[in-house]
Amino acid sequence: MMTNTSASKAPELSPKERLIVALDVSSAGEALSLFDELKGEVGAFKVGLQLFSAEGPGIVRTLVGRGAKVFLDLKFHDIPNTVAMAAVEAAKTGAWMLNVHASGGSEMMLRTAGEVGEYCDRNALTPPKLIAVTVLTSTDGPTLHEIGVTRDPETQVVELAKLTARSGFDGLVASPREVKQIRTAVTNEGFLIVTPGIRSVSATKDDQKRVTTFAEAITNGADYVVVGRPITMAADRVGAVKELLAQA
Ligand code: C5P
Repeated sequence: MMTNTSASKAPELSPKERLIVALDVSSAGEALSLFDELKGEVGAFKVGLQLFSAEGPGIVRTLVGRGAKVFLDLKFHDIPNTVAMAAVEAAKTGAWMLNVHASGGSEMMLRTAGEVGEYCDRNALTPPKLIAVTVLTSTDGPTLHEIGVTRDPETQVVELAKLTARSGFDGLVASPREVKQIRTAVTNEGFLIVTPGIRSVSATKDDQKRVTTFAEAITNGADYVVVGRPITMAADRVGAVKELLAQA
């Protein structure tokens, strides 16, 4: 489902619109207080496994009801029918973007794109952007080898990117370091690239292994950038956002 047909990179977006803040907290109270603090400063918010496990789909509906664009980052990976049906339920929350693991394969992604597209058509809903995780930004070569993948991370990312583009998805999640190679390998109009793993030059990498700065990610061709701890753990969160955006 290629819904965005404007250009391979959305040039009209401002740095602020490109910034997605990860609400990696354990309660609705903390999430909503982060949302209130940052809603005028960033483009979208990400609800991931921690917050979703704590609060369920209600927190997504609440955020959407308050005007947030929500990237629901549950990284589905299961049999095609289960993932497709879960994605339809996720779409019902009003999430703007959803994801699965590309390593689940083309049948899983095609079925998901088909079911979500049909559901949204039948109910006159704007379909969520469907994106696939290639290789987690916390994964490096040794981690891939540990699970039997002998390709280096870059090759694995590019192969999974090509698979995603053939499977009716709108785009993918990848490390900002691989954006250029993906743009070369996948030329579909409007193919979205979302990159986590953003750090300021001097900051800690935490558990992220393949990182760049916000500015580098955008220059390399990312459409959206997910930032969690560098913003949410900052003493001055609005200041941290402004600093990131000023670099772009
Ligand atoms: O705190 P930090 O900036 O590392 O947060 C990055 C966020 O992006 C986390 O919520 C993480 O789950 C998510 N993510 C990632 N790598 C991916 C996909 C999502 O780090 N490939």
